[in-house]
Amino acid sequence: MSSSRRLFFALSLPDALQQQVIRWRADAFQPEDGRPVAAANLHLTLAFLGDVSTQKERALQTLAGRIRQTGFNVCLDDLGHWPRPGVVWLGTKRAPRALLQLAELLRSQAARSGCYQSPLPFHPHVTLLRAATQPVAIPPSTSGWNFSANHFSLYQSTVEHGRTRYHQLAQWPLNNQDNP
Ligand code: 2AM
Repeated sequence: MSSSRRLFFALSLPDALQQQVIRWRADAFQPEDGRPVAAANLHLTLAFLGDVSTQKERALQTLAGRIRQTGFNVCLDDLGHWPRPGVVWLGTKRAPRALLQLAELLRSQAARSGCYQSPLPFHPHVTLLRAATQPVAIPPSTSGWNFSANHFSLYQSTVEHGRTRYHQLAQWPLNNQDNP
């Protein structure tokens, strides 16, 4: 059995929002545009950790548990296409400061723990389609869905029978916005 796991910190999307997004996506894109991400896998990554040993995972969970951060609302009102990684994404035109701070903290804790962090700036997004390497007609707008982030989670990424699955390993609350 492997003693390291492929991990990332992320915000989950509420189940109802996952369903709304996939219904909209079915109309908004063509089958040849890319491979749709399963509804249950729609998430917003805060920090990608890569393959992490049990010991390092424990240390990262301890650090995550010490974070005191206010919750926030995310408005998913932006869309885009990155042809090189082949990703069509849903994002936000105005990332809340608390979201950027939370990601920055998790990413710097990860870097200090020896998890490689991409030098590219953090661009909060929810991946909608993968393998989207050809030009894609991006719809002019989204419904501007909102969700309230009141916790963040640690996920393990596995591939089972050729399908990617994300298993939530732990979650931590974000403080009430009215009572930080
Ligand atoms: P993506 O959706 O833009 O591909 C789990 O793989 C999550 O971690 C995905 O949301 C993925 O972002 C993100 N991630 C960030 N860096 C990654 C990397 N180097 N390899 C795989 N996933 C990465």
